[in-house]
Amino acid sequence: EQSRQIAQTLAEFQLTKAQLLEVKERMRAEIQRGLSKETHELASVKMLPTFVRRTPDGTENGDFLALDLGGTNFRVLLVKIRSGKRRSVEMHNKIYAIPLEVMQGTGEELFDHIVHCISDFLDYMGMKNARLPLGFTFSFPCKQTSLDAGILIKWTKGFKATDCEGEDVVGLLREGIKRREFDLDVVAVVNDTVGTMMTCAYEEPTCEIGLIAGTGSNACYMEEMRNIETIEGNEGRMCVNMEWGAFGDNGCLDDIRTKYDEAVDELSFNAGKQKYEKMCSGMYLGEIVRNILIDLTKRGFLFRGQISETLKTRGIFETKFLSQIESDRLALLQVRSILQHLGLDSTCDDSIIVKEVCGTVSLRAAQLCGAGMAAVVEKIRENRGLDRLEITVGVDGTLYKLHPHFSRIMHQTVKELAPKCDVNFLLSEDGSGKGAALITAVGCRLRQQEQ
Ligand code: BG6
Ligand code: GLC
Repeated sequence: EQSRQIAQTLAEFQLTKAQLLEVKERMRAEIQRGLSKETHELASVKMLPTFVRRTPDGTENGDFLALDLGGTNFRVLLVKIRSGKRRSVEMHNKIYAIPLEVMQGTGEELFDHIVHCISDFLDYMGMKNARLPLGFTFSFPCKQTSLDAGILIKWTKGFKATDCEGEDVVGLLREGIKRREFDLDVVAVVNDTVGTMMTCAYEEPTCEIGLIAGTGSNACYMEEMRNIETIEGNEGRMCVNMEWGAFGDNGCLDDIRTKYDEAVDELSFNAGKQKYEKMCSGMYLGEIVRNILIDLTKRGFLFRGQISETLKTRGIFETKFLSQIESDRLALLQVRSILQHLGLDSTCDDSIIVKEVCGTVSLRAAQLCGAGMAAVVEKIRENRGLDRLEITVGVDGTLYKLHPHFSRIMHQTVKELAPKCDVNFLLSEDGSGKGAALITAVGCRLRQQEQ
């Protein structure tokens, strides 16, 4: 009886192929709404123009600084790009912590901290007085009006610094630089999906899509200019930052959301927002698991019916723990020891159930992400009027990299839902900073041509 009830609870998370096809179709419809002039304002998937008009061609050259803000780590990088026959990229980087009180303090504090880190990095590299062009990977939704202007629409994930929403983040960065009395030339603001696509496209020219499955979830791709009705011009292509994490914010996924998804949403900083992201990204999967475990415990099926303080703690199940728990190489005894480590006393039966819960939640996440990607590749195939499309997706993110099953299931789902597309996934080994530097190189060249 107990196991039947547990199975019934988990069944709410199981999606049929028909349901996944439906998710793909809905994503496809939202893409259309986001691109079109009339419906853009109301669309949940914003389809933001990035002003990146082509992938790298090997002519990029120069030394650049890059910032990478918004994933697990904040990095400052020096990227040296050499063009020509023996083209190469050399990178140096340093990771800096962003204390919680800075993430959630004032905008001025956040940008002062960022600029402090840049200055420390320049010291560390022994290049205090270099005035290098800088590319700013800023992994949040920004309304761009040019390569070097991006108004933060809304914070997502764990950030909530005040006085930033509605502001141009390049302006905020420049002001921070001025306050410290040094000089840097901010040339481009870049979403992490775009940086990742560019990083991978430098090695693999068929890469025209970027995907992040990490703390957050998002994708970008090269769209035809004629289809992007929100900006002028019909020639060529432009990369569009989909901001697909917000898919479902208009209620279109409500039929597949469970009461646990609702609980996670309600307890988050941005309730009612980023509903798709909250079903498929690393920051929230652990929270869904925790909410299910609390419910199962309340019903007496787990932890001897005792809800411990630990289980009440938000954020205990980080992606790395879920990944460990689901690893097939791990014996149940080791699962127990992970739970123990988290402060959860479990029996052998408990650990079996916990593992099952984790598996159910991450399976759905990977399938939903795959359904979204299937919509994107199908859109590109139709844009190009092809019977078959061959394309590469550049991917990054802790969930994709660390989880033992996520990537495989996501790939499989794309294959099943978009059978006319041969989709190759390429893991970004160098993060998105390299891509941001490549975009900065092109930005510098365009500036010189304009002068
Ligand atoms: C990194 C990229 O490798 O992946 C970042 O350089 C990106 O720009 C990150 O935000 C996403 O992964 P996560 O899991 O750290 O959010
Ligand atoms: C969130 C951000 C988005 C970013 C994604 C992955 O969804 O809004 O801009 O690309 O996380 O980091």
